[in-house]
Amino acid sequence: MTETLFSSITQLVTPAPGPQRGAAMRELTMLKDAALLVRDGVIAWVGPRQDAPQTPHTQDLGGVAVVPGLIDPHTHAVWAGDRLADFEARVEGVPYEEMLARGGGIRSTMRATAAASVEELVNLARPRLEALLRSGATTIEVKSGYGLDFEAELRMLRAVRELQALLPATLRPTLLIHVPPTTGRAEYVQAVCTDLIPRVAREELAVAVDVFCEREAFSVEETRAIFAAARAHGLRVKLHADQFHALGGTELACHLEALSVDHLEASGEAQIAALAASDTVATVLPGVTLHLGLPAAPARLLVDAGACVALGTDLNPGSSPLFSAQFALALAVRLNGLTPAEALTASTVNAAAALGLRDRGALAAGQRADFLALHSPDWRDLTYTLGLNPVRDVFVGGQNLKENAL
Ligand code: NIG
Ligand code: FE
Repeated sequence: MTETLFSSITQLVTPAPGPQRGAAMRELTMLKDAALLVRDGVIAWVGPRQDAPQTPHTQDLGGVAVVPGLIDPHTHAVWAGDRLADFEARVEGVPYEEMLARGGGIRSTMRATAAASVEELVNLARPRLEALLRSGATTIEVKSGYGLDFEAELRMLRAVRELQALLPATLRPTLLIHVPPTTGRAEYVQAVCTDLIPRVAREELAVAVDVFCEREAFSVEETRAIFAAARAHGLRVKLHADQFHALGGTELACHLEALSVDHLEASGEAQIAALAASDTVATVLPGVTLHLGLPAAPARLLVDAGACVALGTDLNPGSSPLFSAQFALALAVRLNGLTPAEALTASTVNAAAALGLRDRGALAAGQRADFLALHSPDWRDLTYTLGLNPVRDVFVGGQNLKENAL
């Protein structure tokens, strides 16, 4: 048994464990002059320093604020090639969707990614995930979706498996059915259901299946078929929906008890009502709003309607080259109208729920000891600071990342 008492914490700030919805997202617990006891990678006790249990091993955190490790529930961190020419063209006025319709955008990343080996993908993704970790993300979802052909999709997921062995963060792999081939799409969807999904499930290469439900990608009916196959093979489902057009994917996903629906920039009253009435997490991605200049997802309205809102980076080369979970959190306060307290809940326990996890995201006995020591004595610096990392130390299972030379 290993036990460490972390002390000299000016503010220990946390939501309650488990998903929080509506007004409960603002209900943080704040302990001043606190301590935190970690036993074998799990939080054993949290409370005022003067009540701390005696233990031979203590660590003084030096008078700073401590919050739960952030959870990034939506990334496309594995890709090859770049989208720099796309970016320049977009800034000069070519819309993102038009680029995709012309065979560029996501499709150009697919060509580069499909040509890369597992080893190359691992080497490309590793520093991106390390950057997310240093920004405070202790659990990170990573999607496939730039493979298109099945062998390339499987290579992406194998790369995630190899990355898991190299990095202290928990990686959660998701099979993403991203855009259809330009010919034979009905056969493609059929083969996804009868070949790709069963292989991914058999080899345990992913825990969930995601679909990009959009005019330039998959229809609601195609999404329904892919979800049925995923569920039949014991995989959870999640959805990219309402990024440009509200096609009905959000309503379908809520009806099928999807883990989360992500994007929601084009969501209206019906989609907000569907999310608020379901246990499906509404995940907003402010990096996309910033990078593509899209409207912000209506996180404020979602919280006010009683939904469970999470937020993530959507790290990817095309719509969100955002390598910081902390920056995503700070953006959600500016762009999506979340309060600092709501944004912390969205980035921790609610992001965990978007991944089907309940053992993390809060500083409470029994939760994983994933936590952050900031540079500041005031936790709100996490939501305030832009472009400078306010996270001083990242602890995963009670271990400081700096001990892993990260
Ligand atoms: O979440 N919208 C679809 N998929 C990604 C973007 C992928 C890309 O542009 O490479 C997203 O925004
Ligand atoms: Fe995405």
